[in-house]
Amino acid sequence: MTAPRTVKAFDADEIHAGNFALGIDHEKAARETDALMERMSLEQKIHEIRGHGPRPVDSLWCAGGDAALGLAAWRMVDGPRGARAGVATAFPVAIARAASFDVDLERRVGMATGLEVAAKGGNVLLAPTINLLRHPGWGRAQETYSEDPHHMGAMAAAYVSGAQNHVLTSPKHFALNNLENTRFEMSADVDARTLHEVYLPHFKRCVVEVRAASVMSAYNKLNGVYCGENPELLDAILRGDWGFTGFVESDWFLGTRSTAPAIRAGMDIEMPAGFRFSDENLQAALASGEIDEAAIHRNARRSVYQKLAWQLTEDGVAGKPRPDASVVECDDHLALALEAAEKSVVLLRNEGDVLPVGRHAGVSIAVVGDLADAVNLGDRGSSMVTPSHVVKPLEGIRASAGDATVEHFASNADLSRLGEFDVAVVVAGLTYRDEGEFIPTAQQEAEDSDLARGGDRATLDLPADQRDLIERATAAARRTVVVLQGGSAIVVRDWIDRVDGLLMAWYGGCQGGHGLARVLFGDASPSGRLPVSFPRAMDQLMPWDIAALSVKHGLLHGYRWLDHHGHEPEFPFGFGLGYTSFQLRDLRLERVGGGLTVRVDVQNTGTRAGATVVQLYRGSVLLRPGGPRLGARAVPLPLPRRAVVGGPSARGGVDPRRSRVAPSKCGDAAGTIPPWAG
Ligand code: BGC
Repeated sequence: MTAPRTVKAFDADEIHAGNFALGIDHEKAARETDALMERMSLEQKIHEIRGHGPRPVDSLWCAGGDAALGLAAWRMVDGPRGARAGVATAFPVAIARAASFDVDLERRVGMATGLEVAAKGGNVLLAPTINLLRHPGWGRAQETYSEDPHHMGAMAAAYVSGAQNHVLTSPKHFALNNLENTRFEMSADVDARTLHEVYLPHFKRCVVEVRAASVMSAYNKLNGVYCGENPELLDAILRGDWGFTGFVESDWFLGTRSTAPAIRAGMDIEMPAGFRFSDENLQAALASGEIDEAAIHRNARRSVYQKLAWQLTEDGVAGKPRPDASVVECDDHLALALEAAEKSVVLLRNEGDVLPVGRHAGVSIAVVGDLADAVNLGDRGSSMVTPSHVVKPLEGIRASAGDATVEHFASNADLSRLGEFDVAVVVAGLTYRDEGEFIPTAQQEAEDSDLARGGDRATLDLPADQRDLIERATAAARRTVVVLQGGSAIVVRDWIDRVDGLLMAWYGGCQGGHGLARVLFGDASPSGRLPVSFPRAMDQLMPWDIAALSVKHGLLHGYRWLDHHGHEPEFPFGFGLGYTSFQLRDLRLERVGGGLTVRVDVQNTGTRAGATVVQLYRGSVLLRPGGPRLGARAVPLPLPRRAVVGGPSARGGVDPRRSRVAPSKCGDAAGTIPPWAG
């Protein structure tokens, strides 16, 4: 039994702690930059506005730098699920971590990733990916956090702040990059209200609240103009409205489409090399008067400014020594990967309390499917991370099974014996072949035909072989639990009624198998909540064309679309079950300055320890100018922090790690609605 305690939804002091960008002396940095720039030749400035070449060196994408001037080069590393440089800790993908709704966890993941990037010699982390999940079929859904801008903003701000303890971050891709297969050409067409209320708030939060040091532009067009040369985005909004003082770098290879228009718009660094910003092109643009030297000076200055502001040296930022290589995959980071994996699992169905699975002598568990024994960390695009070891589901289950017996059945095995087992745990889902960044590289082609490409999903159904596996297992097993792997919503309607239990495990990272097993056996009560609506069928969602070259973006998508059209999804945004029950009572509202503080008491009314996510949805009324009332919409303000409220654990005591409050007592969750939430 423990005493009640207060959990704050978003503790800014805690989230912002150690973020180097928040302590920069800008006046000093400006003075030093101007003094240095005076000594720089045009050639030296040009060197500052482009990457070093089309291939990374030691996994580092480099740009600028001049030893004679004492300027180190930018060394950029990809990162949404860990440092993409040699061997590194592979965390669960971002959308999995988002299911935890745990901003403090995300801050620590950002911090650990930043530290590993710094240890690899990097100084810019090319993350987080914060393109809104407009449709769950987006190939890179796994890299982003949410279909909700507020939830996305909270997770992203925490990650940026954590990572910026060690390196600069670069939230990407600015903006509206949410269709993969046509990303190099498509135009996202959007009105100003939708842009500012739906697709940009989370970018704004990263820039304004936690001062992300750079921003990566997007490949696609916005209203017909490539993002990499779009003055509205790169200048008017980013710098004018939001006061961004960092630099913009292009997305790779095709992210810079022109020389003069891109430079004028505020594309500060062309990555990974000077294709459009070649000497030849720049000289021609200068000679024709399309740009002047002042434009190059201005863009180079933004890069130099950040170098001085961040006290960049060859070792790293903030004058800190380069971290020792031993931080990579250190015990703390592996424990963090495990915590993230466990907290990201979402329990979607638990008929007859099939879960948690017992592990005493006499219990028999069949683990079914090839994915149970496969490394499945997500796509093989730029966010791919290579850990030295991956705990696969089967390994995790075996390690936690205690006295129960475990037998594995491959996907093509005869499943008729499943009826002899107490429960069949079927691991099914998607892989890098089905979804992900669309990069048809030579390596992928050679390895696995042209299916190994990621890209958007045209359908949200499982692939036929996976549905067939579930069908065969449910036909033979006494009780079936399906564990789904994947990066976004999956339509389960065809088979859900035949399974007893369903868990969404996403791509769980290098400790995914242990995290899953802790939930399966009840060491942890599942507390993940869906950051994306799971529709009953594709046609509940907006039309989805993965070959579209022009896509109209409106105010409605995800749960707002479902709500507006009166569709009942299979599982709504924010949904997730647990092994215990909670009661929320006594909601209190208090005006604080321009904001509102909301408090609620949270009581564990069940018999087991557990955690829950307190979510607050604010309703508002949308009015069409001069038109009829559209109806009340739920605008969610999920309080992105888990209330951990304990009870006696399954073993009869109190789990000290997760339990804070006895079942009869209350925890208290408080959240302040910040001004940017409108
Ligand atoms: C991706 C970016 C990534 C970059 C560098 C691009 O193709 O869109 O997200 O950061 O490659 O790897």
